[in-house]
Amino acid sequence: MVNILHDNDADIAILNGKTIAIIGYGSQGSAQALCLRDSGINVIIGETEVLGDKKNPSWENAKEAGFEVMTIEQAAEKADIIHMLLPDEHHGHIYKDSIEKHMKAGKSLSCSHGFNIVFKQIVPPADVDVIMVAPKSPATEERKAYLEGFGVPGLVAVYQDGSGKAKETALAMAKAMRFTRAGVLECTFEQETYEDLFGEQNVLCGGLVELIKTGFEVLTEAGYPEEMAYFEVLHEMKLIVDLVFEGGIQKMNSVISNTAEWGEYVVGPKIIDADTKKRMAQALKDVESGKFAKEWMEEARNGCPNLLAKRKALGEHPIEIAGKRIRGLFEQKK
Ligand code: NAI
Ligand code: MG
Repeated sequence: MVNILHDNDADIAILNGKTIAIIGYGSQGSAQALCLRDSGINVIIGETEVLGDKKNPSWENAKEAGFEVMTIEQAAEKADIIHMLLPDEHHGHIYKDSIEKHMKAGKSLSCSHGFNIVFKQIVPPADVDVIMVAPKSPATEERKAYLEGFGVPGLVAVYQDGSGKAKETALAMAKAMRFTRAGVLECTFEQETYEDLFGEQNVLCGGLVELIKTGFEVLTEAGYPEEMAYFEVLHEMKLIVDLVFEGGIQKMNSVISNTAEWGEYVVGPKIIDADTKKRMAQALKDVESGKFAKEWMEEARNGCPNLLAKRKALGEHPIEIAGKRIRGLFEQKK
């Protein structure tokens, strides 16, 4: 059993007089910065004014929200806690260029995903804290829950305890963002990183998307109308997942028909079978060995040519084209 921590296990006072630099004011950066500030924490933003050859909208967004916005290097110098919320593939080089020289003893390096620490894209000095404070939720939900006086569940982890107070610092941040109100799981960097990658590759993103696309292809190739196939394998997915989320698989089964439940038992295991499980186990090994990370970092260094090609190809898949049209037809008329 993992340790689950709540409000009583954390004390925000440890952050008194400290400054947290949020590096990267994107999805997570904006939500976390706003929540920390609303809880009375001193927050500054480290950002890049120009990205590629364009103005970076995140820079303006942070200014408009009333934050003190500066370069990443300035923020890293000024802050006690440097909370990196850039896209993961950019942590390594940005750390090297702009943050490393300011990682003085007693400071904390923090993140919401352990990828760069676990796969050694970042190797911090031994006398700093290295912590993780992560929501188990997309940024929009996280901010919404905070504003409702509530909070989403989160994770905390300590990789390195330079100050002797690393865990207390991570928990204080989690409390300031109200993750401890819902409950925070204490884990290791490796657990979070490996599980996160495995989950998104095999079940949540990779597995789910292939399941949806394949179901749509089989139905439409057999001559069934695209609109019906779309509703069957994509639209209804949410309704089913909501039930599973709410009360587990049996709750969902109690709501669907007996016919659907019977089909689940006899056909499901023929689709996701023992071979699928073996391939999933291999995918987990590739995550744990660093093989996946190495290949992904190579792709990122080359400017993501394959990622961009696959993104484009997905946009041309019939389910995406049909989906746009169908969602348009069912949009609420204003
Ligand atoms: P994001 O994609 O929203 O990007 C954050 C910001 O980084 C951008 O607004 C931009 O200003 C800056 N940025 C982008 N490309 C850059 C570049 N080449 N150089 C310099 N700055 C650049 O990031 P997101 O999704 O908020 O993820 C941040 C961290 O939070 C990651 O470590 C991620 O794994 C973690 N995380 C994300 C969750 C999510 O729901 N999106 C959930 C939990 C953790
Ligand atoms: Mg995840």
